[in-house]
Amino acid sequence: MIRLKYTPIALLGIGFLALTNFTTESNSLVPLNLPSLKEVYKDDFLIGTALNAGQIDEKSPKETQLIAEQFNAATPENIMKAEVIHPRWDQYNFTYADKLVEFGKKNKLAINAHTLVWHSQLPPFVRKIKRADSLQLFLKEHIQTVAGRYRGKVQSWDVVNEALNEDGTLRKSIFLNKLGEGYLVEAFRLAQAASPETQLYYNDYNNEQPAKRAGCIEIIKKIQAAGVRIDGVGIQGHWHVGKIPLQHIEESILAYAALGVKVAITELDIEVLKRDFQGAEVSQRMSNEQGLNPYTSGLPDSLQQQLARDYESLFKLFVKHKDKIARVTFWGVHDGQSWLNGWPVRGRTNYPLLFDRQYNPKPAFYKVIQAHQ
Ligand code: G3I
Repeated sequence: MIRLKYTPIALLGIGFLALTNFTTESNSLVPLNLPSLKEVYKDDFLIGTALNAGQIDEKSPKETQLIAEQFNAATPENIMKAEVIHPRWDQYNFTYADKLVEFGKKNKLAINAHTLVWHSQLPPFVRKIKRADSLQLFLKEHIQTVAGRYRGKVQSWDVVNEALNEDGTLRKSIFLNKLGEGYLVEAFRLAQAASPETQLYYNDYNNEQPAKRAGCIEIIKKIQAAGVRIDGVGIQGHWHVGKIPLQHIEESILAYAALGVKVAITELDIEVLKRDFQGAEVSQRMSNEQGLNPYTSGLPDSLQQQLARDYESLFKLFVKHKDKIARVTFWGVHDGQSWLNGWPVRGRTNYPLLFDRQYNPKPAFYKVIQAHQ
C-alpha cells in the first residue's frame, strides 16, 4: 500500500476531505476544516476522548463539532463512576450515562464505559460497609444493574480499575481487604453475565512499567485460568513531557498481546508541568509552592515542540503495533478541560492535549496526523 507523506499540501487535501464528509443535524456550523484524527487512523485503531458532563450536555456547539469531527470513541470522564451512577444502596442515577449513549449514537462514537469496580470515587455508603457479604452483594447488584442497563449500548467496560500497587502486588483496597483477590475474577464473571457482547478490560496507570506490568499479567492469567473472559488491558498513558517510556510501552504491548488480549491506550495525556512522582494516583497531592505554575500566559515554544515530538513518537509506536491496539483515547478534548489543571496541584495552567483552550489544534495535533505514514 502506498502511504502519503503529510506535507502541507497533503494536509490541505485531508482538510478538504473532512470538509466534504462533514454533516451535522442542524447544518448550522461550518466544518473546522482540519485533518481528522479518526479519518487518518480509521484503518488502525479507534481514536477516543474522555467527555465530561458539560460536553455531554453539548454546552458549546463548537466543542461538540470538534468532538464529532475528530473522534470515533468516547469514555465518560466521571459520570459512570459508582459515586455518580449509584449514590445509595437502592438509588441509581442514569441521567448522564443515558445522555452519553444518545450523544454517542448521534455523533457516531463507540462508548467505552468507565468504570465498574474502582476503590476511588465510591459512594459514601460503600465506604461504610463492614461485612464481606454486604460488599459482595454491592458488587453483584452494582455490576448486574449498571452493566446490564448498558448491554448492547457500550462497546467496552473498564471492569476493574487500578487494582495494583507500583510493585505489582495487589492494592489493599476495600475490595481486596474484605473479599480477597477472588473479587477480580468475580467482577469479570459478573460483567460477562450482565453484558455478554461487551469487551471487558482491566485498566491501570503505569502498567507499562516492568513490576506493575508483571502484576497486570498475573491478573489477566488468573481471570483466563478461571475460564472467565477478559478481552483487553488498558494502559492509561498519563505520561510526562520528555520522559515517555517508549521501550516499556512497546514491551508491554507485546507482553499483553502475547496473552491473547487487545491493548487500549485509555487515558492519554502528556503533562508539561513539574511533578515529583509518576502516575495518576488521585489521592496523591503536592502543595502549591511558588514556581509550580509557570506558564499561565502560554507554553514556551521549546516545550510545545517537545510535546509535539513526544506525541509523534508515541503514535509511530502505536501504528507499528496497530494489529494489537484497539483504541487510543485522549483524557479530554482540549487543555482547558484536563484534570491536570487541578491535580496534583490545584489551579495550574496545564497543556497536555492536542487542542488548546480555544479548541484550536496545537503543533502536537499535526505531528500526530503526520505520524501516520
Ligand atoms: O462534580 C463535583 C462538583 O459537584 C463539586 O462542586 C466539585 C468540587 O470539588 O467536585 C466535582 O467533582 C470532581 C469531579 O472530578 C468532576 O469534576 C471531583 O472533585 C474530582 O476529584 C474529580 O476528579 C476526577 C478524578 O478522576 C477522580 O475521580 C477527574 O475529573 C478525572 O479526570 C479523573 O480520572 C481518573 C480516571 O477515572 C482513572 N485514572 C486516573 C484518572 C485521572 O485521575
